[in-house]
Amino acid sequence: MPQNFHFVSSQIFKKSTEKVLFTKLNEKFMTSITNRNAQSYDLNAKEWDASMASNVAHLYLEKPAMKKLIPGDLENKSVLCIGVGAGDELSDLIKQNPRRVVGIDISEKLLEIAKNKFPSVEVEKMDMMNMSFPDESFDFVYSSLVFHYSNDWDILLSGIYRIMKKGGHLLFSTHHPDYWGATKSTGNSHTNSRGITLTEHTAILPANIEVVFYNHPNKKSIIDSVEYAGFQIITAIEPQVVKPSMTLGKNEQERYQRLAERNPANPIFLIVLARKS
Ligand SMILES: C[S@@+](CC[C@H](N)C(=O)[O-])C[C@H]1O[C@@H](n2cnc3c(N)ncnc32)[C@H](O)[C@@H]1O
Repeated sequence: MPQNFHFVSSQIFKKSTEKVLFTKLNEKFMTSITNRNAQSYDLNAKEWDASMASNVAHLYLEKPAMKKLIPGDLENKSVLCIGVGAGDELSDLIKQNPRRVVGIDISEKLLEIAKNKFPSVEVEKMDMMNMSFPDESFDFVYSSLVFHYSNDWDILLSGIYRIMKKGGHLLFSTHHPDYWGATKSTGNSHTNSRGITLTEHTAILPANIEVVFYNHPNKKSIIDSVEYAGFQIITAIEPQVVKPSMTLGKNEQERYQRLAERNPANPIFLIVLARKS
């Protein structure tokens, strides 16, 4: 046995114990942030749902780009929608005749709205950081504008990797760090066990929903985290605006115009399609 074996193994033990304690502490911290975010969405769930009809960044930028990247072979497959909210993306998923679609969210009120709109979808109140599905449950995991509510993508992505079948796809959109880094920082940050630091921000979303989310230092840190979890990146895009499908009201037209001018140089979202091989 090497002389320094006991020293090295006790250091490893100390490090793994520290990691467990650290993860536990973060779990506790994140639970309180997640509960606050859930309360914000619950309070204004109806208003949030109604606001979607005029949300130009969703309607003419993020959703059309996500739709284009949904794999075309979902017939009879099982699909999980993380952070399904009021169900805005569900029609695009159901269209492909999957065998099973499950939507999870932390907001009970939003889940009720989604269930009313799409009764065939199984909805469940569940935190994406601690999902209770069995291993290899899903062929496709979809998540639109939710991952930035996590302060540790290693925990989030390893959980998704676990519940995904081999050959399955993950498609997600998230805040682009270059744009959202300039939003209101709370002064807090979280460094995970791999040394990745995300900064905490607050924002007021449409329908006056006040939320806390986390910003990566740059785009590379997002891509690296996806690869670190074991996924293979298929594509990572910065979506651009598409032509509105209807005549916009004055306010929406102004917002659309600002977005069309600003987004090419300073994109607000990042979309990643990846595969578990
Ligand atoms: C910006 S909304 C997006 C909703 C929907 N995907 C869409 O694009 O219309 C973010 C959603 O993520 C949910 N969310 C936030 N943190 C979550 C968590 N830890 N686990 C699951 N869902 C979460 C919120 O409740 C909310 O419904």
